[in-house]
Amino acid sequence: MERTFVMVKPDGVRRGLSGEVIRRYEARGLKVVAMRLEQLTEEIAKTHYAEHSERPFFGALVAHVTSSPVVLMVLEGENAIAAARKTNGATNPIEAEPGTIRGDHALEITENIVHGSDAPETAKREIGVFFPEL
Ligand code: RTP
Ligand code: MG
Repeated sequence: MERTFVMVKPDGVRRGLSGEVIRRYEARGLKVVAMRLEQLTEEIAKTHYAEHSERPFFGALVAHVTSSPVVLMVLEGENAIAAARKTNGATNPIEAEPGTIRGDHALEITENIVHGSDAPETAKREIGVFFPEL
């Protein structure tokens, strides 16, 4: 069974949407196999988003994800990586379809509620960073 790493970002947690996000994954059939609330350090946020370190939005992204606690989780299921990303919706909430988390609950690209791994190698790396016991 495939596994993916998902994070409810600070905006989602502050707005009380963690439960709604988890509900959607579970309703779709994905199983939560690990989960915790955590305040990310700048160091771990920079490691997590290392692929974007040269992008103009990197500073804003790291500032946002370290602004208050996040909910970290590992989901398991058939095609879990693609399923979670489809449930999340397009990166820019304005492009995200209604019926997706971002399409129903967000307007702004930095505060787009969730993160989901984008490929098997990424999922493996991200699960290793946050849940090394798995
Ligand atoms: P994610 O990693 O968050 O699941 O989403 P994604 O793969 O669709 O997006 P990615 O390209 O990996 O970007 C990571 C996060 O960076 C922020 N971002 N801001 N201002 C901008 O142009 C911009 N582009 C990306 C978003 O918060 C995105 O989720
Ligand atoms: Mg990404």
